[in-house]
Amino acid sequence: MAFPTETVYGLGANALDERAVARIFEAKGRPSFNPLIVHVPDAGAAREQVTSWPPAARALADAFWPGPLTLVLPRAEGVPGIVSGGLATVALRVPAHPTALALLRAADVPIAAPSANRYTGISPTSAAHVERALGDAVELILDAGPTSVGIESTVVDLTGSIPLLLRPGTLPQQSLREVAGALELPRARVADEGAARPSPGMGARHYAPRGSVYLFSPHERDAALAAAEEAAAAGERVGALLLEPLATRLEEVVHMPADPDAYAHRLYAALHQLDDAGCTLLLVERVPDGERWTGVRDRLQRASYTPGA
Ligand code: TXA
Ligand code: MG
Repeated sequence: MAFPTETVYGLGANALDERAVARIFEAKGRPSFNPLIVHVPDAGAAREQVTSWPPAARALADAFWPGPLTLVLPRAEGVPGIVSGGLATVALRVPAHPTALALLRAADVPIAAPSANRYTGISPTSAAHVERALGDAVELILDAGPTSVGIESTVVDLTGSIPLLLRPGTLPQQSLREVAGALELPRARVADEGAARPSPGMGARHYAPRGSVYLFSPHERDAALAAAEEAAAAGERVGALLLEPLATRLEEVVHMPADPDAYAHRLYAALHQLDDAGCTLLLVERVPDGERWTGVRDRLQRASYTPGA
């Protein structure tokens, strides 16, 4: 069933039942080598799914659980390999949402759940998003209204000597670093080891609407305007996600808040809105540099990825 968390809606199944987990991959149309996040009601239940619980795990769990933080640790034997796409690790999180926690306690099993959207599509922040994306593929949706955080959890890998940030979310890197003692960023590792994809299941194109996303910086507004007018003249339906108004008439415009948390909260609903309006080209104004915007910047980058570009 689909259920709400504070980040996005998840598509959940008993993490200990291989057949149930296989149906998640089926419903999403997701390759089975992509690992899933396992949700548990508390840190005690998390410890039962792993073979080690290093000091950084305890510190991060104490500081951020329940909350939008996922920890990758060595997988216990009881957790089937299909959950982790065959990896020797498992990703765990305690969601900060009363409905999710009530479900986890009632189920009395860990619940594997990716975001409840089709593979590479926009994550759902409402029950209506889930229904539109997955339709009959999901038997039940627990509807608790729109989610509060709005983008997916921060993922930190604790299986190496230094905690590694696999996916930025809304948690400040500085706080993570302070609590965990250290935090390695994926780019540093890419430079060191030449690894292009630090996290399995983090393919470059992700969280993407159906239309093409054109990212532009504030100093590229004129070029963006020209692109919009050219595309509109060619019959495209042009929408925009803006921080500052753009001087042209577009089919669909969403004005986004200037605060990163407020922006994250609205991002997927805005992309869904432009998608539903049939926009074939989405002009998206780049967000500011700086650490507080890392999670949002990451999602915009993935939404705009075009192979070969
Ligand atoms: O906020 C969230 O995390 C939401 C809600 C439902 O909890 N879930 C979510 O799941 O975003 P999903 O499947 O869309 O993203 C999970 C990501 C994977 O794409 C992968 O990058 C990482 O978490 N991941 C999961 N298991 C992993 C593992 N064993 N090792 C490394 N990365 C892992
Ligand atoms: Mg997802």
